[in-house]
Amino acid sequence: MADFIKNPVVPLPDQDPEPQIPAEELVFTDAEKQQIAHWVTRYPTADGAVMRALWLAQEKFGFLPPEVVRLTAEELGIPYAQAYGVATFYTQYYKKKMGRHVLDVCTCFSCQVCGGYDILHYLEEKLGIHKGESTDDGLFTIQEVECLGACGSAPMLQVTNGPFVHNLTPAKVDQLIEDLKQGKTPPFVSVTLPQDEADLGGNRRSDAAAVEAYQTPPVSATVE
Ligand code: FES
Repeated sequence: MADFIKNPVVPLPDQDPEPQIPAEELVFTDAEKQQIAHWVTRYPTADGAVMRALWLAQEKFGFLPPEVVRLTAEELGIPYAQAYGVATFYTQYYKKKMGRHVLDVCTCFSCQVCGGYDILHYLEEKLGIHKGESTDDGLFTIQEVECLGACGSAPMLQVTNGPFVHNLTPAKVDQLIEDLKQGKTPPFVSVTLPQDEADLGGNRRSDAAAVEAYQTPPVSATVE
């Protein structure tokens, strides 16, 4: 059997685990139903609203276990499989309970060439967890993600579907972790374009000396 069928990202419909949201809490309020119904009117078919509805569900329940994906699909009147496909395609939808801060480290092309795996492994070693895991105190989860559209300031990461942290170095990672532990979320910083560098201060990497991680393997050598 194919590995992804034996170990799906979330259980397949006939492999539903014990529900993680109590049945009495597994409902949308009237206001939430109205909001979803309003979104549906803005698309030719109800499945057009699936991303917004899943997002609403994630904000409400914190993550998207199968029963929440099913509830959302039922509210939209679309097949469960369709909502499941969307929820499992995007790393921004959390299929399991996450730490308070989710660190999405990009290791796609530009970030990889500029040391994305170095940053990922540095974080893994610093927090003592592998990507996909959460720290015991529930503070941090690390994810490895695809391109987040900020290639010009690689390597970068995103914090809990929010602000980007650009041009990462180990020192920047240390500062970020310290700030997050103290409840300080980094500010949103727009990626500058070359023509705006002088005016905006610039956050694009130009220090070629930092680009030396080209051969870094994708698997951490030190975290067991
Ligand atoms: S490759 Fe990392 S943001 Fe594009």
